[in-house]
Order: sequence, then structure tokens, then C-alpha cells
Amino acid sequence: MFQFPFFTTLILLSLTPQLRIQAFNIISATSNTHQNITLTAILQKSAEVCQVVVLKQGRFFVQPKVLTAESVAQACLSPASASSLKEAISDIKNRNAWTDLIHFKDPEYHFDNEEFAAGRGVITQGLSVVKASLKLKNYESAREQLGEILHTLQDFYSHSNWIELDNRIPYPNLINPYLLLDSLADNKTATCSSCTVNCTNNILDTVIKQRKLTSGYYIPPKPAGKCSHGGTLDVTSLLDPTGGINKDDQQSPHGSLHLQAADVATAATRDLLEDIRRTTTDTEFLRLMGITSSSSVLCIVIDTSASMAKDIDEIKRITNFIIDSRQGTADQPSTYILVPFNSTVYGNVTKMTDPDKFKSEVKKLSAGGEGSLLRYSLSALWLALAAAPSGSEIFLFTDAGPALTDILLKSTIEAMIESTKSTVNFILTNPLTNLTSIVPNPVNLLYQQIAEASGGHFIEVSKERLPNATSLITNSTISGLVNIFYVVKGSGGAGQYTILVDPTVTNLTFYITGSLTVFAITSPSGQIQASLQSEGSLGIIETVANLQTVRINSPNPAGNWTLNIASLLSCTIKVTGKSPINFKFDLVDIANIPLPNSGYSVSQTRPSTDGSFTLLVSLLGSGSGLISELVLVDSSGSGLYKGSLEDQGSGDYLVTVETAPKGDFYIRITGQFNSSTSSKFQRQSSTRYRASTISITVLRNTTLSAGQIFTVGFVLKTSTNTKSFLTYAKNTGQDFMLFSPILPAVNGYSAGVVVFNVSANATAGTEHVLTIAVTDQELTTTNYVFLRLAVSAAVAPPAGLELSLWLSGLTLLISSFTLS
Ligand SMILES: *[C@@H]1O[C@H](CO)[C@@H](O)[C@H](O)[C@H]1NC(C)=O
Ligand SMILES: *[C@@H]1O[C@H](CO)[C@@H](O)[C@H](O)[C@H]1NC(C)=O
Ligand SMILES: *[C@@H]1O[C@H](CO)[C@@H](O)[C@H](O)[C@H]1NC(C)=O
Ligand SMILES: *[C@@H]1O[C@H](CO)[C@@H](O)[C@H](O)[C@H]1NC(C)=O
Ligand SMILES: *[C@@H]1O[C@H](CO)[C@@H](O)[C@H](O)[C@H]1NC(C)=O
Ligand SMILES: *[C@@H]1O[C@H](CO)[C@@H](O)[C@H](O)[C@H]1NC(C)=O
Ligand SMILES: *[C@@H]1O[C@H](CO)[C@@H](O)[C@H](O)[C@H]1NC(C)=O
Ligand SMILES: *[C@@H]1O[C@H](CO)[C@@H](O)[C@H](O)[C@H]1NC(C)=O
Ligand SMILES: *[C@@H]1O[C@H](CO)[C@@H](O)[C@H](O)[C@H]1NC(C)=O
Ligand SMILES: *[C@@H]1O[C@H](CO)[C@@H](O)[C@H](O)[C@H]1NC(C)=O
Ligand SMILES: *[C@@H]1O[C@H](CO)[C@@H](O)[C@H](O)[C@H]1NC(C)=O
Ligand SMILES: *[C@@H]1O[C@H](CO)[C@@H](O)[C@H](O)[C@H]1NC(C)=O
Repeated sequence: MFQFPFFTTLILLSLTPQLRIQAFNIISATSNTHQNITLTAILQKSAEVCQVVVLKQGRFFVQPKVLTAESVAQACLSPASASSLKEAISDIKNRNAWTDLIHFKDPEYHFDNEEFAAGRGVITQGLSVVKASLKLKNYESAREQLGEILHTLQDFYSHSNWIELDNRIPYPNLINPYLLLDSLADNKTATCSSCTVNCTNNILDTVIKQRKLTSGYYIPPKPAGKCSHGGTLDVTSLLDPTGGINKDDQQSPHGSLHLQAADVATAATRDLLEDIRRTTTDTEFLRLMGITSSSSVLCIVIDTSASMAKDIDEIKRITNFIIDSRQGTADQPSTYILVPFNSTVYGNVTKMTDPDKFKSEVKKLSAGGEGSLLRYSLSALWLALAAAPSGSEIFLFTDAGPALTDILLKSTIEAMIESTKSTVNFILTNPLTNLTSIVPNPVNLLYQQIAEASGGHFIEVSKERLPNATSLITNSTISGLVNIFYVVKGSGGAGQYTILVDPTVTNLTFYITGSLTVFAITSPSGQIQASLQSEGSLGIIETVANLQTVRINSPNPAGNWTLNIASLLSCTIKVTGKSPINFKFDLVDIANIPLPNSGYSVSQTRPSTDGSFTLLVSLLGSGSGLISELVLVDSSGSGLYKGSLEDQGSGDYLVTVETAPKGDFYIRITGQFNSSTSSKFQRQSSTRYRASTISITVLRNTTLSAGQIFTVGFVLKTSTNTKSFLTYAKNTGQDFMLFSPILPAVNGYSAGVVVFNVSANATAGTEHVLTIAVTDQELTTTNYVFLRLAVSAAVAPPAGLELSLWLSGLTLLISSFTLS
């Protein structure tokens, strides 16, 4: 028998069939949803702020006729931001939906059960975290927190009687903790009469006349005489007074007021955005929304051991070059990250937006110390992955293998890569050579595996040739680079690949990694260039160690390109270009019910090998384009499974894949520029994904407060007959502590908990990233949990904490439950 003392709520959650949304719908073809209320308000507010910024620059502002991510980015004179604006909105919307899934039983998150004070508390507490995160430039946390509170704010207008009281403007007191919440119907005042069918006047006249604020009950018990939320899943609406008052959609009990409620919710969302804007600069506000002059990131993870002197000089040179040559251009990086490490320490993450400050940080780097040949490279990489925005290119420099404890980080690093979709490139200056050529250095094997998992480059190069390799950094950190194609050709046969390049692509580049790969490229017009022709009709081929880079000259390379590989050895092929069109995807957990308007949340784990899984896919950078196909491809580029697409409007698609592949897979989309043209485009993720036979269900504390303990419980379930699981947890914010406890499996189940304390002086808005990797005893499969959390406002440390845990800065503690 099992005992899960901790997980009573969790078990309930997974067994309760009615995860029905008690709010504006999340996904709906017929009603205003949380999603499009959020989208509309963000576009309106962003356009308004842009107008101010553009006029201040003495330039013309052209108000877009129809607000879309593209038209707003254009009006902001930053057309290349269309993608990042769409991405930011999508992150905010995803988190908005998450609130329903996580807090479906908490009335204050929905202004149900007359929980006005607590509901306002959710909003104002969250708002202070948004502002604190923004101050620390933790944009991703700020977006998540914003999404959460917008859900609650928007629900007020659907679930209370604010609209029935004839208010057509937002209630400002909800975003201001200092204003009184007055005229609330007290808990003894009856508010509704029973409603048999389609009644919209079931709120008592006295309540309306005295302008008392009330809301519907959803979570029992309902006090006598109170209104219910209403709807088929609301059990309180069966009790007297029956019926309900929500305005979630047109079919709701008060559906005739749905449009009014949605309008006021949109205005309230704009007001909350304005409140954030007032505490920061217009530029920072726009940046929160993804509108920046550049979206590129320069992220360097560098070994500072004595032997690295040459490498460090080269990094100083290349950093200065990038910063000086891109001053004021769209390719100027907008975020700079530096993470040093050596054989004794790692850390000191520098993350900034000011290029000159960054230059001086890099200038301070110096090589020194008599270290060993085991370096904290992967611990430092982990921190870089945690600090960098999703989708960053990270460059790691070292000339030695990872420390023994770092080797254990492999699964955890892969979890970070899959969750952040960042790319890790290794530039390793410890090549081995025999008399004639460079041979692979076995200490670099783990680096190679990590580079491959992320679709990054793996270069072993002598210190003398280092400058040839670092030009890769200059070329991979320009804005707007997209991944068009990625395959790994196995050994034993030649290969031929067709690459579809659309008319929006410029700076087409082929990267071919593998020893001595012989290839030929054929352009759409039939011109051919072979790998030996370093300067040919199509472009320039540069070779650095095992990487050959082909930069195509043609400024307009649209058409089908063919790549023929003659070598029998394995190699990887990556094709990139610059284009405004890209896609974003997230694996999502859909509420466990077969109803259309259900909630979802972005998954924090790998999908399970048994059963289907769902992706939420957004087309970025094209207002009129559409995605026509999504295919999971294996590393050789062969299609494994096709997803079925459900168009959600605004370029968003819900994609269901019936079966999770057994092995590695990548995600490839094909789309059209609009429904009338046949002109197609193709994009592919270079991040490698895997499903797992272990499934993880997570139950966690919702807020991370300074001076408090945070717990994450997890239940593991496996379809194999493994006897135990190995777990490994890591957390930023403090130094990490690791345990590798072994959790016994009983009938395929196990459970564990990770507990960490947040230092009492942690600043609000500080990010904690937590990963828990779980591997079965046979080391055949891994799954993980990835959480990004922001510290909320500080509170005094609770008394009676275990002193050892509190004082030691010892942050993680995993224990298994008694299984009997
Ligand atoms: C929101 O969705 C509804 C239903 O699809 C639609 O009628 C409405 O125009 C949408 N609003 C926006 C701003 O997209
Ligand atoms: C009703 O409100 C009063 C005063 O605010 C409070 O003391 C009492 O506990 C409440 N009763 C219930 C059942 O919530
Ligand atoms: C109640 O409203 C629904 C939807 O608006 C409608 O289909 C139905 O006919 C109405 N019923 C009555 C009795 O008016
Ligand atoms: C980080 O900075 C502190 C103080 O500036 C220094 O003592 C420590 O050694 C540094 N660590 C690394 C990895 O550079
Ligand atoms: C590692 O770096 C730290 C901080 O820069 C330094 O204090 C220490 O001596 C270095 N250790 C080795 C072995 O190089
Ligand atoms: C050096 O390595 C290359 C490539 O692995 C191999 O072909 C060659 O035979 C080696 N030469 C010697 C002298 O070992
Ligand atoms: C490597 O770089 C040097 C100097 O930047 C250049 O002269 C040389 O041609 C490069 N070699 C290759 C193979 O690209
Ligand atoms: C990067 O691009 C520059 C020109 O933009 C070129 O000179 C350099 O060789 C390129 N490097 C690589 C590795 O492609
Ligand atoms: C991209 O292409 C444009 C035009 O073809 C060229 O001017 C620019 O230097 C290229 N950028 C890079 C980084 O190669
Ligand atoms: C490119 O190839 C695809 C099939 O792979 C074909 O449908 C398309 O028409 C081709 N495009 C051009 C411009 O030749
Ligand atoms: C949240 O934290 C408290 C103690 O701080 C703990 O008792 C509770 O079980 C935690 N809840 C979850 C879901 O982890
Ligand atoms: C924060 O608290 C830790 C102990 O919890 C202490 O070591 C550290 O010095 C404190 N930092 C500041 C800035 O007060």
C-alpha cells in the first residue's frame, strides 16, 4: 500500500474530472476569451506607448488601422520586433491560462465566493512582483507574473456584479492596495433570488439599489441567499438561490452582458499595464512586451584558468568588436551575460543591458591560478542557461573536461536546453593531434553530446586558430536569425537533402559539422559549388577544424536548395538565415476533460511515451500567414508523426500528436504566407526532444517568499518495471546542494519532495530556477521538472524552522516517502 500524506490534494487534482474553467474561456471560437482580451489590451497599450516614444524622437507615428503584433511593431518603427512582441504576448497568455489550471479551487484567484479582499491581494502582490522583476530586468518572470494576475483581474468583470451595477469603466481599487474596498455585500446579506431559466435579473433589487458589490459562489459551501457562479459544473448553483451570474461567454447565465464585461476587462487590463508603465521607463515597458531595437543576446561562459590566457584575450577582442561595430544598429545585443568558471569556483553571473559596462566587466577577466584539468564548466553553463532569455545562443570556452560532479549534470543540462530552447556552442581549445590531423579529444565527449542536444556547434580548435572560430559568434548573434533546417546524417551512407528557402530569407548559411565532410550545394537555379571550392559561384566556404561554413552570396536566395553529402562518416547539417518569420511552440498540458473551452498550462516536464501530447504553436512575424503542417522529424529528417492542427486565431494553433516518438525528435513546420499564395516556408527547431517512460506530476507551493521554505512535491509513474529512480535537483539563487537520493519504485510509482529555503534578504523579483532530473535505475530514460520562480515580497522568517536548514544556506533536501 502507498501513503502519500503530502499529496492528497494532488491526487484529487488528477482524479477530479471537472477541471472546467470558471472564468472567461481560455480557448473559444465564439466568445471573447482571456486570450484575446489580453492580446487586445497589450496591443492597444503598446501602440499608445510607442506613439509617445516615436513622437519624442521627432519622427512620424502612423496609427495602425488594425492592431496586430506586426502592425504595432511597424508603428513602433521596430518591425523586426513583431516576433518578440508576439512571443511576449504568448508567454503572458499562457500564464493567464495556467492560473485556471493551478488555482481552480482557489476562489480568490477568480473573485468567486465574494473573495474581494483576497482577490485584490492576489493582484496587488503579483503586481509588486512584476515591478520588482522588471527592475531586475527579469523579463520572463515579469511576464509570467503579469499573466497570472491578469487572469484574476479579468475574472472580476465576469464573476462580480460590477457590470450589473451599470459600471462601464474599470474598478481602480483592484490594482491599488491603498484604496478602500467599500460597499461590499457582507456575508449575511442575501444577494440573489432563484433563477429558473435564462434570467438576468436574479440579483436582488436591494443589492442593485444600494450598489453593493457581490460575486457568485463556486466553491461550496454557499451561505444562504448568495448568488452562484452558474453553469453546468457549478454545484452551488443547484442550491437555492439557483442559477448564476457569470458572464464568461454568450451562453453564460448573464451572457447578454458578456461583451460589456469583456470590454471593461480589456480596459482594466490596459489600466494595469499603465500602472506598470508609470513605475518604469517607456523603453523598459516596451521591452517587457518584447518591443526592443534588438532581440539578440551575447552570452559567454568562460574558463579563467591560467591556460586560458589566449582565449580570454580573444574574447575581449571579439566582445569589443561586436559592441563597437554594432553601436546603434538592429544587431546590437540587447542583453549581455558573462559566466566565469575555473577548477575551483563558478558563478558570478553578470547580466546587463549596458554595452559599455559589459565591456568593462569583460576587461576585468584574467587567467590565473594553478588549477586542475577538471573544470566547473557545466555548473557555469547551467547558470548561463538559467540567466539567458529563451532561445539564446550561448558560447562556452574551455580547454579541459568537466569536473566529476559536473558530469552528473548532463540530464539536468538537457532539461534546461529542452525547456529554454537555447543553443549551446562549445569552442574547445584542447584539440588532440596525431602527426597529420586533429583527432577527437575524449574529455570533450560530454560537451559534444550537449552541443548536439541543443543543435549547437562543437568546435575543437587550436589556440592559434581561435580567431577563425570566434567569427562564429559575430555571425550567430545578429537579430532575427531563424533555423530553417537541421539533420544529423548517420554514418555508412551518402545523403541528399532538399532545403526549402522562402523569399523572406537573407544571409543564408549552411553549417556542416563532421570530419572532412565532402559535399556539394546546388542552388535553385542549378549552380553547383563543391566543398573544395572555398570561393565559388554560390558563396564562401570557411573551414575551422570540423566545421565548414558556407555563406551564400545571393541576397535573395529563395527556392529549393539541394545539399549532397558524399562522405560516409556522420555529420550534422544546420541551415540558418535571417527572416522575420519564425515559430514558437510550447508543450502544454490540457485540462483533463474533453470539453472545448478548457484550460492548459505550459508543461514543465517531458511528454510521456504512452499517449498523445499537445503543443501550442504560434506563428511569429506574419500577420496573414498560416501554418499548414507540423511534423515531428527524427534526427535524420524523416517525418515520424504529423500533428493535427486546430486554428485558434491570431496565428495560434493547438496541435495534437497522437503518439510520442520512441526516440529523439525535432519539430518542423511548413506554412504559407497567406491562404491565396502557394509560396511556402519551412522552419525547424534545432533543439532535440525526447519523450520519457517516466511521467512526473508536480505539486508545488505557489509563492516563493524571502525567508520562507519552498516545497515541490512530485509523483513519478513509470510503465517499465524499474526498481528505483535516481533524482538530481539543482537550484539558482543560492549555492546549490546536491543529493542523489534513490527513490524506490513500488508498482511503477514513487514520490519525492524538494525543499529549499529562500534567503531572508532575497530581493523581490529575484529569479530562482529549479530543475529536478529523474532517471530510472537502468539509465534508459530521463524526465525532469523545470520551474522558473520569482521571489515575492519579503516576510519575516517563520518561527520554529529547522535551524540547520535555515542557517546552513543548504538549499535542497530531497526525501522519499515511506512506502509500505
Ligand atoms: C475575440 O474572439 C472573439 C471570438 O472569436 C471575436 O469575436 C473577437 O473579435 C475577438 N477579439 C479580438 C480582439 O480578437
Ligand atoms: C461574516 O463576517 C464577519 C465580520 O466580517 C465575520 O466575523 C464572520 O466570521 C463572517 N462569517 C462567515 C461565516 O464568514
Ligand atoms: C435560453 O437561452 C438559450 C441561449 O441563449 C436559448 O437557446 C434558449 O431558447 C433560452 N430558453 C428560454 C426558455 O428562453
Ligand atoms: C566572484 O566574485 C567574488 C568577489 O568579487 C570572488 O571572491 C569570487 O572568487 C568570484 N568567483 C568567480 C568564479 O569568479
Ligand atoms: C578560480 O577563480 C577564482 C576567482 O577568480 C580565484 O580566486 C581562484 O584562485 C581560481 N582558482 C584556480 C585554481 O585557478
Ligand atoms: C591521424 O588521424 C587521422 C584521422 O583520424 C587518421 O586518418 C590518420 O591515420 C592518423 N595518423 C596517424 C599517424 O596516426
Ligand atoms: C583563419 O583566420 C586567418 C586570420 O583571420 C585567415 O588569414 C585565414 O584565412 C583563416 N583560415 C581559414 C581556413 O578560414
Ligand atoms: C562571419 O561573417 C563575416 C562577415 O559578415 C565573415 O567575414 C566571417 O568569415 C564569418 N565567419 C564565419 C565563421 O562564418
Ligand atoms: C547579411 O546580408 C546582407 C546583405 O546580403 C549583408 O550586407 C550583411 O553583411 C550580412 N550579414 C552577415 C552577418 O553576414
Ligand atoms: C520546392 O520543393 C517542393 C517539394 O519539396 C515543391 O512543392 C515546391 O514547389 C518547390 N519549390 C520551388 C520554388 O521549386
Ligand atoms: C507549501 O508550504 C507549506 C509550508 O511552508 C507546506 O506545509 C505545504 O505542504 C506546501 N504545499 C505544497 C503544495 O507543497
Ligand atoms: C543575506 O543573508 C545571508 C545569510 O542568509 C548572508 O550571508 C548575506 O550576507 C546576506 N546578504 C546581505 C546583502 O545582507
